[in-house]
Amino acid sequence: MTLKENLIFAKAQGKRQAWLTAYDYPSARLLDESGIDLLLVGDSLGMVVLGQKDTIDVTLDQIIHHLIAVRRGVTRAPVAADLPFHTYKTPDQALATARRLVEAGADAVKLEGPLPDQVALLVSSGIEVIGHLGMLPQQVREEGGYHRKGKTESEAEALLIASLALQAAGCCAVVLEIVEETLAEEISQQLNIPTIGIGSGPRCDGQILVTPDLLGLQPWFRPAFVKPKADLGTPFQAAVREYIRETKEASKTE
Ligand code: KIV
Repeated sequence: MTLKENLIFAKAQGKRQAWLTAYDYPSARLLDESGIDLLLVGDSLGMVVLGQKDTIDVTLDQIIHHLIAVRRGVTRAPVAADLPFHTYKTPDQALATARRLVEAGADAVKLEGPLPDQVALLVSSGIEVIGHLGMLPQQVREEGGYHRKGKTESEAEALLIASLALQAAGCCAVVLEIVEETLAEEISQQLNIPTIGIGSGPRCDGQILVTPDLLGLQPWFRPAFVKPKADLGTPFQAAVREYIRETKEASKTE
């Protein structure tokens, strides 16, 4: 079965998708061995690995560099990768970018926005595509922040139409980022491909989170909708402090 067939089948059976991001070999291996349904080499890379303030400056070469490492750590879950900002302005450019990601090991690619022409060309070229609607991080500078989407009737209608257009163009799933919960639920009911929510409530067909947010590895920044399952920053620093203390206290003559 293709990824899309698997996802539609799982949705029809009421099975929810649990997805996370990955950026390197050890975490990809740990996540894969934990049973995650899909790993995304997201352009959140810029923020959570490279220390940038948003995703805008992430390059295709950077995504590929991290995708290759993630691929080495994964034996069972599908691996998807983001098309970075400005690398899919036209369908042809999207295809050239997506082909590089597939060559580097991606099973699927994700792109932001209502771009059915880009999606249709990729899908007809044999590439699995995940859509991404709602808050689009690649637009954050224009929008001046991460704002909830679908609050007004016209915005909600546009999002529903865009979701249906992405499905018709051949997407295998659609990420809904920071979308009004009732709208996310309605879109989920209207589509036969799964909706994957991030900050869009519990009624999507699955969820994706940025792994360092889930694990509490970035105590200096956590989106309001994330409920971390661990606080790994604390044992991380405790172990390093213990190492520093032991090293400095050890006698050279021991
Ligand atoms: O880049 C990213 O991490 C994403 C999110 C949807 C998880 O696109």
